[in-house]
Amino acid sequence: MAERVLFFFCIFFTLSVTLAVSRSLPDSKTTILDVSNSIQKTVDVFLADLTKSSEIDKSLSSSDSLSFQLHSRSSIHRAHHRDYKSLTLARLGRDSSRAKSLQARLDLAINGITESDLKPVDSVFGEEALEGPVISGTSQGSGEYFSRVGIGRPPSEVYMVLDTGSDVNWVQCAPCADCYQQTDPIYEPASSTSYSPLTCETRQCKSLDVSECRNDSCLYEVSYGDGSYTVGEFVTETITFGGSASVADIAIGCGHNNEGLFVGAAGLIGLGGGLLSFPSQINASSFSYCLVDRDSDSASTLEFDSVTPPNAVTAPLLRNRKLDTFYYLDVTDLSVGGEMLSITPSAFRLDANGDGGVIIDSGTAVTRLQTDAYNSLRDAFVKGTRTLPSTTGVALFDTCYNLSSMKSVEVPTVSFHFSNGKSLSLPAKNYLIPVDSAGTFCFAFAPTSSSLSIIGNVQQQGTRVSFDLANSLIGFSPNTC
Ligand SMILES: *[C@@H]1O[C@H](CO)[C@@H](O)[C@H](O)[C@H]1NC(C)=O
Ligand SMILES: *[C@@H]1O[C@H](CO)[C@@H](O)[C@H](O)[C@H]1NC(C)=O
Ligand SMILES: *[C@@H]1O[C@H](CO)[C@@H](O)[C@H](O)[C@H]1NC(C)=O
Repeated sequence: MAERVLFFFCIFFTLSVTLAVSRSLPDSKTTILDVSNSIQKTVDVFLADLTKSSEIDKSLSSSDSLSFQLHSRSSIHRAHHRDYKSLTLARLGRDSSRAKSLQARLDLAINGITESDLKPVDSVFGEEALEGPVISGTSQGSGEYFSRVGIGRPPSEVYMVLDTGSDVNWVQCAPCADCYQQTDPIYEPASSTSYSPLTCETRQCKSLDVSECRNDSCLYEVSYGDGSYTVGEFVTETITFGGSASVADIAIGCGHNNEGLFVGAAGLIGLGGGLLSFPSQINASSFSYCLVDRDSDSASTLEFDSVTPPNAVTAPLLRNRKLDTFYYLDVTDLSVGGEMLSITPSAFRLDANGDGGVIIDSGTAVTRLQTDAYNSLRDAFVKGTRTLPSTTGVALFDTCYNLSSMKSVEVPTVSFHFSNGKSLSLPAKNYLIPVDSAGTFCFAFAPTSSSLSIIGNVQQQGTRVSFDLANSLIGFSPNTC
């Protein structure tokens, strides 16, 4: 108990100091990285008490608020890695398949091919076995953030992956033709009084990318581009939030045939911009999440219809008429140490074809930028950190430092600039991240040769990100988890 109080006091104290510093230096050219603290966290993640992680903090949700608790992957799924370096390499491996699958989704939408052209629905619903690539499921939101969600009436509580990169909600469902292993018991439609299959003529069934009609019940299929998929009946169910508030008649896939390593979660809540996503179905005018430190056991919230905090930096939210799932940010330039990089405008522009642009995603870890933009950013950062001892690159990172002999370092501030004239300065720990426990830190951006840039969750850590759908704005409020 005393430890907990002390822990919260420390967090509060750190927060107050950080806020005080950022207030006195609004457009600071440099930012301090607390090296010792970052390294300590890479050690603590292996010491954390496993029994604590299964505890749900009820105090986070008041009973009538439309909010879910939000947990990082490490708090529900203790990785079996021998050290922080191997944990990092595993994360970065997942991240590459995530970035690829988002680009694949966009390519399909632009080229006017539906997913059903790729995989006939009968090969999954029918008798013959599905032949596909090796099943990994790794692109699935990288499975980095989860919520505790109640399904049915009475509600069965399960962990669900949260994903801004897709729309269709689904849960593994009894009887299982094929279910992967999950932490909670499999959801049983028979024990819910609110389970109701959708017929084929319903608006929800018609909104599916891939569906089939059997005996006038609507069957759905979602495949995630890396071999993972879910297939089953499309139904409506009651969904209960962390408190006790609930919404009835939410269209959700009851998956009888599921493949992929969804890290033990029972299913997925789609937070995308499409008609079938959870926020769209509850007619939410906004939603927001705060991504807690990926290595921490603490929880945060995913909230619906909450107001954007008044101190938030806002940026215009753009939509792609070829694909309504993704949330685009109108980024115009980047700056390093207060100097604008003057990136070619086309590098970040969402063009009339639906190509290009910058999306914000909860499931991608490392921000991907078009190669030229990345090179400008990296070169400016390297120029501003000449005094720091550099070391060899790690996985997709080409700019790394050996900070083992330092307690803290001062680095150039990295900022995003938006078309409304606002800018978002990142805390140093959101772009210089430890890759091991020995003091190796890497500049956490990566180049992509594809047209789509992605702002990832490393850059969003500790920040409440508000999707103000009604006013087409995205808000960022640092230090508010
Ligand atoms: C379709 O309905 C018929 C009659 O209600 C039933 O015998 C059959 O098993 C059903 N088929 C499927 C695939 O559910
Ligand atoms: C959302 O709006 C649609 C159409 O306006 C309506 O049919 C539906 O009942 C609403 N859902 C909720 C949860 O308010
Ligand atoms: C980092 O620097 C320390 C000395 O400051 C050295 O002992 C260590 O070997 C270096 N680590 C790497 C990976 O180069």
